[in-house]
Amino acid sequence: MCCLLTFLFTPLPTSAIFTLIAIGLTAFFYVLTKPKAVHPPIDLKRQSIGTQGGARRSALLKDDTLLSYYYEDAKTLYEVFMRGLRVSGNGDCLGYRKPNQPYQWITYRQVADRAENLGSGFIKKGCKASPEQYIGIFSQNRPEVKQPIRREKTDLSLVVCDKPDKASVLLCNCEKGLTPGLKIIVTMEEFGDDLKERAVKCGVELLLMKDLEYLGKENFKKPVPPSPEDLSVICFTSGTTGDPKGAMLTHKNIVADASSFLKATESTIAPVASDIEISYLPMAHLFERVVQTVVFCSGAKVGFSQGDIRLLTDDMQALRPTVFPTVPRLLNRIYDKIQSGASTPTKKFLLDLATTCKFAEVKKGINRNDSVWDKFIFKKVQDTMGGRVRLIVTGAAPISPNVLTFLRAALGTQIFEGYGQTECGAACSFTTPGDWTAGHVGAPLPCNLLKLVDVVDMNYFTSNGEGEVCIKGPNVFGGYLKDPEKTAEAIDEEGWLHTGDIGKWLPNGTLKIIDRKKNIFKLAQGEYIAPEKIENVYVHSAPVAQVFVHGDSLRVKDIYVHPEMLSVENGLLTPTLKAKRAEVAKYFHSQIDDLYAKIQD
Ligand SMILES: *[C@@H]1O[C@H](CO)[C@@H](O)[C@H](O)[C@H]1NC(C)=O
Ligand SMILES: *[C@@H]1O[C@H](CO)[C@@H](O)[C@H](O)[C@H]1NC(C)=O
Repeated sequence: MCCLLTFLFTPLPTSAIFTLIAIGLTAFFYVLTKPKAVHPPIDLKRQSIGTQGGARRSALLKDDTLLSYYYEDAKTLYEVFMRGLRVSGNGDCLGYRKPNQPYQWITYRQVADRAENLGSGFIKKGCKASPEQYIGIFSQNRPEVKQPIRREKTDLSLVVCDKPDKASVLLCNCEKGLTPGLKIIVTMEEFGDDLKERAVKCGVELLLMKDLEYLGKENFKKPVPPSPEDLSVICFTSGTTGDPKGAMLTHKNIVADASSFLKATESTIAPVASDIEISYLPMAHLFERVVQTVVFCSGAKVGFSQGDIRLLTDDMQALRPTVFPTVPRLLNRIYDKIQSGASTPTKKFLLDLATTCKFAEVKKGINRNDSVWDKFIFKKVQDTMGGRVRLIVTGAAPISPNVLTFLRAALGTQIFEGYGQTECGAACSFTTPGDWTAGHVGAPLPCNLLKLVDVVDMNYFTSNGEGEVCIKGPNVFGGYLKDPEKTAEAIDEEGWLHTGDIGKWLPNGTLKIIDRKKNIFKLAQGEYIAPEKIENVYVHSAPVAQVFVHGDSLRVKDIYVHPEMLSVENGLLTPTLKAKRAEVAKYFHSQIDDLYAKIQD
């Protein structure tokens, strides 16, 4: 007190006055530009609550009643879309672009009209307005895709393709007599006479989507809206092991999952009609569809990427999205790019300083892009994403805590991590808004209970808070198409979906995934090895693009270097860019045999 008074009453030298004015101005601008912190909707130290049978539920719920829907007038995907039409005031809905051109938009009403015309066209061609009527879709993400069902496993009589070359693939199967049930192929893009002739020879009718919509318009039938229990989509999932299985998801499943996101974000950063999502993850994957459900429910817009991952930043700069659903592989790439940009010790020092300063704000719940650090250090990378992203959701694979923490600071956006699988409508746990910590997959979503069960042969016991993650709630699917055996393996008699992932409850009620039940092999010397863990170590080495570790419990070790990347196109990666382990092992069968043969010599 004494010192302060002396200081105030001593006449100040001019330079000190300027310094004080400068500090005052800086503080003034700081207060002016300082954005509000996100206030977590629940106590972050207590994110889930124990309930019957050792299960845990979201702390966002008042009691044990699980959330099935968020809006009374949006309980099916049809109603979700109609709600979007209403709350957006028939705003723009779907966007697409041709190379190097701006995005073009079609409105909610236009989408609804085209969907109704197309539906009427299907009926005119003999389809029934019923959930038992399957329609296959073989296409990249684009505005025409509304009800994707991939592959021919379902004895489809009608398949919609985007490009004529996909129709050609289907016709090849017809010519081999593999798809006797196929009667009609519809393409979104124009096809040539040769393709038409091939179709005629196989007894298949080849139609242009535009013509089918016109036919539907001429023979219009009023829509028969689905009920929440009706089948919405059959999602073919191979996971990383085994044959494709058709997971059957109802409207209720998908709406429950999307509604949980709305519930979790309602008090903080819930999507609004002005939001724009960039859609580049395949719609055949539930993650993307649930995000779109959230977007449509809110009357917001979806802009489709051109479908080439190399053009994604170009698309993002043209679209300037605010919502970015993505996978760790892509976020890792952004991280690597920023880090390798800090090529000199000075640059590295500044980057680290900027990150530390911004992360100090993130810890207080502040995510922003207008601090002094953003202007000088992070603006460039924010601009490559269009400069307006405010919400990133990552899922489909675990993200490293380092990368997550760094990007939360650098990008100045909320980054949420979801964990789950197709069979639970994409996610079952999710980062709570305002939680800036990493190393866990968040709390149970309000639509489901989570519990752990013992996995005795791997030494995981619920008495230690560890075990296989099981899910129960309105988001859990009905089963696999025509596969009661696999269905019974996935869902037990009490309705719990067994995920195959090993989880651990953390003291603050969040879940951490620590292992996987499958993908484990025993070395000849008796040790257990999880190949994915080893891969995650090797892949950090710069010359290594991808690693695949294969093990046979009876033999030992060597290495083979392959010049070609595993990709979705060559069938060795899942659409979410995870290795299909069984397929990769089959593909490299001869190389693996050679390696083993060499060792035995
Ligand atoms: C910062 O992010 C907001 C969205 O949260 C966006 O509207 C704004 O344009 C961004 N500002 C800059 C300078 O990029
Ligand atoms: C939750 O617990 C984990 C493990 O103790 C910790 O790393 C994390 O920071 C915690 N998060 C919060 C928000 O308390």
